[in-house]
This record gives sequence, structure tokens and C-alpha cells, in this order.
Amino acid sequence: MTTTVPVTITINGEPRDLAVAPHRTLLDVLRNEAGLTGTKKGCDVGDCGACTVLLDDVPVNSCLVLAVEAAGRNVTTIEGIAPAPDRLHLLQENFMALGASQCGFCTPGIIVMAKALLDQNPDPTEEEIRFGLAGNICRCTGYTKIIEAIQVTARQMAAAGGETA
Ligand code: FES
Ligand code: FES
Repeated sequence: MTTTVPVTITINGEPRDLAVAPHRTLLDVLRNEAGLTGTKKGCDVGDCGACTVLLDDVPVNSCLVLAVEAAGRNVTTIEGIAPAPDRLHLLQENFMALGASQCGFCTPGIIVMAKALLDQNPDPTEEEIRFGLAGNICRCTGYTKIIEAIQVTARQMAAAGGETA
């Protein structure tokens, strides 16, 4: 029998009481216990960035974080970055509008990482965007449209006074 420990993790603003085995990753608990499958499991060893979430507003590879380490902390997943239930984040709008997503497997992690980047640096250069996404692998797009979608988002956010939608 696997021992579990009770943890409370605030996920997308909602406190969730979960029973997790000490060896379980935050990624697996988000997907399987919390039912949030937007966060993807690519490599499970910290190489691809598909599992990126925000832990207290800092991007992390959730496959490298134990769920127990997130106890008492705030986790934001792709499901939680939109400003309202009926509105997408501008990044999501622009990824759709500009064709920055193909198979889509990398997209949640890249959008979460891009949100963290723009929160820190609202006017990034192309080089800064590429550096910020260095840990997020996309095998489909060639990155050009991803960079463009982030640049367009940055310009729209500046025009809207920092608003994301
Ligand atoms: S699944 Fe976590 S970095 Fe690839
Ligand atoms: S859109 Fe397929 S891996 Fe990025």
C-alpha cells in the first residue's frame, strides 16, 4: 500500500485538498488527481518544457517538482491563465490567430512560459523571447510564428496598458 500525505495546493486560485504519495510529481498530480490535463507530459525528465506551470508565479517544469513541494503554494496552469471563464488570454488568442500552434502538444507549456516572460519583461526583444523559451521544445512550428505571436501580444498589452484581454 502506498502511503499518501494530505496537501492543500491552490490551483488556479482554488484551494484543492489532495492526498498524494510523496514520490508523485506535481505534473502527475495535476493531470490525474486534479483533472487538469492541459499541462502535458512530454519527456518527464525536464528536457522539453511541455509540463511548464507557474509555482508562486515562477515557471517550473512540473515533472521535476514533487507535489508535496507545492503544498501551501499557488500553482497556475494553462487552464488558469485566462482573465475570465469566457475570455482567453491574449497569448491564447494570438497563438490561434497567427498559427503558432500545430499539433499543440508544446503549446500549453510555451504559453505559460511566455506569460511569465511578459509579466517580467513586457517589451522583450526577439532574442529575449528566444532565450526565455530555450527550455520549451516545439517539433512542429519552427518557432517563427510562436515568436511573432508573443511579440504581437506584447504590443497589444502595451497598447491596452498591460491588460491581457
Ligand atoms: S515533461 Fe517536464 S520537461 Fe518534459
Ligand atoms: S506545435 Fe507541435 S510540438 Fe509545438
